[in-house]
Amino acid sequence: MRRKIVAGNWKMNGSKDLAQTLVSDVRSQAASLDNGVEVVIIPPAIYVGEVAANAGDLLSVGVQNVGQWASGAYTGEISAEMARDQGCQYALVGHSERRQIFGETDEMVAEKVGRIVAGGLYAVVCVGETLEEREAGKAESVVAAQVRNGLAAVSADQWRQVVVAYEPVWAIGTGKTATAQDAQAMHASIRKVLSEIGAPADEISLLYGGSVKADNAAALFAEPDIDGGLIGGASLIAQDFISICRSVPAGT
Ligand code: 13P
Repeated sequence: MRRKIVAGNWKMNGSKDLAQTLVSDVRSQAASLDNGVEVVIIPPAIYVGEVAANAGDLLSVGVQNVGQWASGAYTGEISAEMARDQGCQYALVGHSERRQIFGETDEMVAEKVGRIVAGGLYAVVCVGETLEEREAGKAESVVAAQVRNGLAAVSADQWRQVVVAYEPVWAIGTGKTATAQDAQAMHASIRKVLSEIGAPADEISLLYGGSVKADNAAALFAEPDIDGGLIGGASLIAQDFISICRSVPAGT
């Protein structure tokens, strides 16, 4: 059975106060979740220690990015090892905001994935097409290339540390969500690419992200190849986030 995961990516939002109050709220409500979902909080790196201290055993913690190097003269960067040292289990990599604003390439994504898995963390590798690419009928080929290139350095014994998040760029922060059918079709296509590159595709969790809210999460998570979600805006409100976590069907 694949792991079910709901992860909240705070992006560059939040505060020390939120890292205490929201995390305690989510933690206390997570105790009543009975669907086996793993709940992950991914705050800005500066708050990771605070979140990890408040997360208890019920919540996992992640960083939004790591550098592609082990250590050294890279001012402003943090390493996968440091994230683990601060109590993280997860690291996002290749988010479309990193790709678009910070020029992150597939090659950099592949190097970062290598660092993340070697550092003992789960890599949540983000892929997704722009609106222009979708309208040109290229969505599947663009995403397939991101999956192939971004995961090029993963070795056979590391696949269990890989999670893929499909986030169509046009759905991020826009209030437009992919329909459950379109998201399912892309997830099935990603799973096919994973098996073509030798990954144990049926064991890899695939998350959907892009304007997931409390009122559309259940329809998305009911699809057979959608194993949870990567949540932006709605992860900053404890009630909304926990309600999305509750929308994961039990025992599938
Ligand atoms: P929104 O849920 O705010 O659309 O953000 C999605 C996202 O980018 C999560 O990584």
